[in-house]
Amino acid sequence: MKITAAITGIGSYVPDYVLTNLELEKMVDTTDEWITSRTGIKERRILKGEDQGTSVMGIKAVQQLLEKTGTRPEEVDLLICATVTPDMLFPATANIIANGVGIARAFSYDMNAACSGFLFALATGAQFVQSGTYKKVVIVGADKMSAIVDYTDRANCIIFGDGAGAVLLEPNTEGYGLLDQVLRTDGSGEAYLYQKAGGSRRPPTHETVDRREHFIYQEGATVFKFAVKSMADVAAQVMERNHLGNDDVAWLVPHQANKRIIDATAHRMGVGPEKVMLNIQRYGNTTNGTIPLCLSDYESQLRRGDNLVLAAFGGGFTWGSVYLKWAYDYQAVS
Ligand SMILES: CC(C)(COP(=O)(O)OP(=O)(O)OC[C@H]1O[C@@H](n2cnc3c(N)ncnc32)[C@H](O)[C@@H]1OP(=O)(O)O)[C@@H](O)C(=O)NCCC(=O)NCCS
Repeated sequence: MKITAAITGIGSYVPDYVLTNLELEKMVDTTDEWITSRTGIKERRILKGEDQGTSVMGIKAVQQLLEKTGTRPEEVDLLICATVTPDMLFPATANIIANGVGIARAFSYDMNAACSGFLFALATGAQFVQSGTYKKVVIVGADKMSAIVDYTDRANCIIFGDGAGAVLLEPNTEGYGLLDQVLRTDGSGEAYLYQKAGGSRRPPTHETVDRREHFIYQEGATVFKFAVKSMADVAAQVMERNHLGNDDVAWLVPHQANKRIIDATAHRMGVGPEKVMLNIQRYGNTTNGTIPLCLSDYESQLRRGDNLVLAAFGGGFTWGSVYLKWAYDYQAVS
């Protein structure tokens, strides 16, 4: 009997602090009108406070996931955390999250594929389930982008926000769950979207701090062009090779980088806006958080058997699309 890996639950968390476009207008030379028309973003959440890392949000998302799915921490076999803003370079944020929720009989590790990280981690975790090796795998997508955003750089500080989401993968023998994926990287994209210093090539010094090299560096227009084409290409490719017409697709679940990139992907797939999950207006680009946060926000509208096409694009460059058949009808937890 063929085993597939199905998402059987979702948890999420966003911090309370809301950074609005109006507040950004006071910080840099920008306008609500410019930000809204170029990106679709109205506000984003920011994790405030001393010693608050990405794991704080990851722990809250996984706690909710375990509660909603009635999973005991000791049942979890593996936890993968996709992030570009780990609490520290090592140990892995996945370990800190696992420890924070009492997952003690598992192994855990981080994955970094920039904004495509959640999809890459989902596809990786699914392999362990499909092979019959593990039964309960938690995939977390979490980022505290505010830790690496330069709030004097108007082109970048408007885009990013903080947030986390998590899903549980379990074996399914009825044909639900992850059915296909196209995942890609092109390392020649390195120079267009990256954090210049802080790694082994350019360790932190006073000079790297003075040159503001620990913040996100991005050539927005180049990234935009590449993202529009790549995300649409792989989403269309996944549809084609699974013989999915636009009527067959119940939902497009796109990485929330820019509303115009999302629109272009939907247009290429031939799906209308009513089938596109969208929450960029409220959270901005939370990097690895975007896709699970979308699934969380739309969970009550999902039905067993729905065909979902997930698509992402990120620094590096990385991009990909996953096709999955949704495995359950939502039941509100009282
Ligand atoms: C960042 C982004 C919104 C900028 O939009 P854009 O239309 O490409 O704008 P450009 O970078 O070409 O800049 C156009 C002008 O707007 C200005 N500008 C940039 N940010 C601005 C802001 N917040 N407010 C007002 N003006 C701004 C620029 O300085 C530039 O002015 P100039 O022409 O006088 O030099 C857009 O490039 C983008 O979304 N790129 C992809 C980013 C992304 O999704 N990254 C994550 C991938 S996972």
